[in-house]
Amino acid sequence: MKLIDFGVREDEKKYIEEWSTENNIEVKIVSDLLTPETVQLAKGYDGIVAYQQLPYDEKIFDVMNEYGIHVLSLRNVGVDNVPFAALKRNQIRLTNVPSYSPEAIAEYSVTGLMALLRNLKHMIRKVDQHDFRWAPDIGRELNQLTVGVAGTGRIGRAAIKIYQGFGAKVIAYDKFHNPELEKEGMYVDDLDTLLKESDVVTLHIPSLGKGHTLINSKSIAEMKDNAIVINTARGDLINTKDLYDAVASGKLYGAVLDVYEKEVGVFNSDLSDQEFSDEVLDKVIKSPRFILTPHIAFYTTKAVKNMATVSLNAMVSELNTGTSENEIDLGK
Ligand code: COI
Repeated sequence: MKLIDFGVREDEKKYIEEWSTENNIEVKIVSDLLTPETVQLAKGYDGIVAYQQLPYDEKIFDVMNEYGIHVLSLRNVGVDNVPFAALKRNQIRLTNVPSYSPEAIAEYSVTGLMALLRNLKHMIRKVDQHDFRWAPDIGRELNQLTVGVAGTGRIGRAAIKIYQGFGAKVIAYDKFHNPELEKEGMYVDDLDTLLKESDVVTLHIPSLGKGHTLINSKSIAEMKDNAIVINTARGDLINTKDLYDAVASGKLYGAVLDVYEKEVGVFNSDLSDQEFSDEVLDKVIKSPRFILTPHIAFYTTKAVKNMATVSLNAMVSELNTGTSENEIDLGK
């Protein structure tokens, strides 16, 4: 068996190399993303592993089929940039890593929130200027707040545990109810209720698809005054301009954004010597009431190792048995 792994960052290499040695399976490491051009490097390999934020071009899958490669294993969880129709047309199976570290994302939700509640961004900026005054940066305490968790999959459930540990009142919404949380009476009936009753709303749901946002001027109007939004899930869940305006007007307290609707090509790039043309993002970065980070909630040693190795294990299972526990249902 010979595998090829695309879009590999420096910090992932050692985990892939270790896996390759331990499993005695050749893995060619390629730093380029998977495109209709680079897929040609896969000729002669049995399976392709990849991670990227850019959409996977449909042509890639025609070439894979031509080369007799019928499995694509992703090193991440999100499959929103994969054209399922092209995979099905070419009889290509897809796997992901559904649970590389729910705790990494959940911990980051609370990390960002604590920073915002204690106005750390503003305080650190002041101290950098040798301004050591307290006011106006008086803090708020998490134990006094109601946290609404949207989405009670693995990440949402890990977040609930952490927020409960801090003494917050936690309520939750999901289309599918987890029996344990149901018993605890944690669910509210709908998203509107979650938004209305929460001081903090933390999003742990997948993208709703093009043009469908969860947080926008209409839903923000329903939210409590002074509420906080946390997004470590997908940028397109939020209309960022609406959110910025709500914070600027004083309706909302602030937000923690680790994802952004136009992050592709920006996050994890060094743009320090370039003209910055995204006005909304620029305002968000400048505002002390936004904690903006470049999609780093997942970025821990545990998660990165799991992403590298679980994707390879899924590939081996697919090639040896025709399926794996991480195979994505591509639909009819
Ligand atoms: C995913 O796993 O889909 C993520 O959002 C994290 C990614 C930046 C590796």
